[in-house]
Amino acid sequence: MKLLLENAHVEGIRYYEAYRKSGGYRAVEKALKMTPDEIVEEVKKSGLRGRGGAGFPTGMKWSFLAKPEGVPRHLVVNADESEPGTFKDRYLMEFLPHLFVEGMIISSFALGSNTTYVYIRGEYAWIPDILEQAIAEAKANGWLGKNILGTGFDCEIYVHRGAGAYICGEETALIESLEGKRGNPRIKPPFPAIQGVWMRPTVVNNVETIAAVGPIINMGGEEYGKIGVGRSTGTKLMSACGNLKRPGVYEIPFDLSVEDFIYGDEWCQGIANGKKLKACIPGGSSVPILPANLLLKTAKGETRYMNYESLSDGGFATGSMLGSGGFIVLDEDQCVVRHTMTLARFYKHESCGQCSPCREGTGWMYRILKKIEYGQGTMSDIDLLWDIQRRIEGNTICPLGDAAAWPVAAAIRHFRDEFEWHITNPEESQTRNYGLAHYADPLEIASV
Ligand SMILES: Cc1cc2nc3c(=O)[nH]c(=O)nc-3n(C[C@H](O)[C@H](O)[C@H](O)COP(=O)(O)O)c2cc1C
Ligand code: SF4
Repeated sequence: MKLLLENAHVEGIRYYEAYRKSGGYRAVEKALKMTPDEIVEEVKKSGLRGRGGAGFPTGMKWSFLAKPEGVPRHLVVNADESEPGTFKDRYLMEFLPHLFVEGMIISSFALGSNTTYVYIRGEYAWIPDILEQAIAEAKANGWLGKNILGTGFDCEIYVHRGAGAYICGEETALIESLEGKRGNPRIKPPFPAIQGVWMRPTVVNNVETIAAVGPIINMGGEEYGKIGVGRSTGTKLMSACGNLKRPGVYEIPFDLSVEDFIYGDEWCQGIANGKKLKACIPGGSSVPILPANLLLKTAKGETRYMNYESLSDGGFATGSMLGSGGFIVLDEDQCVVRHTMTLARFYKHESCGQCSPCREGTGWMYRILKKIEYGQGTMSDIDLLWDIQRRIEGNTICPLGDAAAWPVAAAIRHFRDEFEWHITNPEESQTRNYGLAHYADPLEIASV
């Protein structure tokens, strides 16, 4: 069942006319006859959970929004989407911009936001034009601007381009950046619901979360809540990439097994070039990697499903997270140490540097991983790596520290033998040529 991408292949759906002909903006008509509180109630009933990564219940988040008299409130939509492996919001904004705009109008009305912002990552250079055109079309047809549908509700939407920093996806860093400052995360509390952008009450939601609001209003929160499994309601967009035969963006039901998603004809169609599955990171680079035996059906017939609960089943020992839906697949030829080193390099580069465990720890982990990858590591380096990631986790201002620590922990937990192989086979480790000479930086290795 498709709730978001149902009309993705309708010709011209990117433009107002085709979108409207396909039933677009009906949800706004319906929602603006309701009260804001009734809309919040529908979203609560739907069980919708934030699609940005943490999976926090959206209706609950909306009900936390402070409403002091005479103080403007804001909806800020997080379109930063910098998590490696994640590209589903891009698909929504590029191909279904009106679905997104429709969701923003309803959500703005529900939250009392007369000025709503979309914070979009700088690298999506061509998408702001698409969004701005959709916003202009919506305005020209009376869905935005002053006194929308005669309700007295005014709303403008502005698209704000980021400059390409991963940390600006973290909601308080995003708010700082939107205010024109360096994107440093704020210490919480106060939470954005109390003091967000310009210290005004603010809700920050992901693009996919907001795009789901139109379908929820159309079908009713209760009906939406019946789709899915347990606390994973509705559908989810997944961006599948890596060694797959058919990577891409898919809208999945939550009762789909991981095995069917990887091998099913309707989905990713298996591993490319006839290789075997080695491992997968199911929810964007920050979540723990899982080996094939914890993903596919076990001999005992246990099945792992593509939903919040099933993917995290077993905690960090044997589970992972649905996260942002960036599904990264590694085949049998991929080196987990190298892969983990590449991610560590990313987090080192993207750390804002405010807190020492993250600022120092991310660089330290990267240098040790590089040392191991290039055959210069020792067995005690594995223990040191384990120790460093443990000292980062939970000890930082924002979750980037955890995001850097978890991939390292999971790689050691599930693939310790590969780390040991690099240490016991230094020559082979050193001579493996991946054609990426800049990684082999002897100065950095020497400085560990
Ligand atoms: C380092 C970091 C990067 C993040 N990047 C994004 C992002 O690109 N997009 C996003 O929606 N949420 C991102 N988040 C999560 C946001 O802080 C926030 O929880 C989310 O936008 C809330 O939206 P939701 O409730 O609709 O999921 C990131 C969090 C962290 C710690
Ligand atoms: S955890 Fe890292 S990115 Fe987050 S505030 Fe601290 S130094 Fe900055």
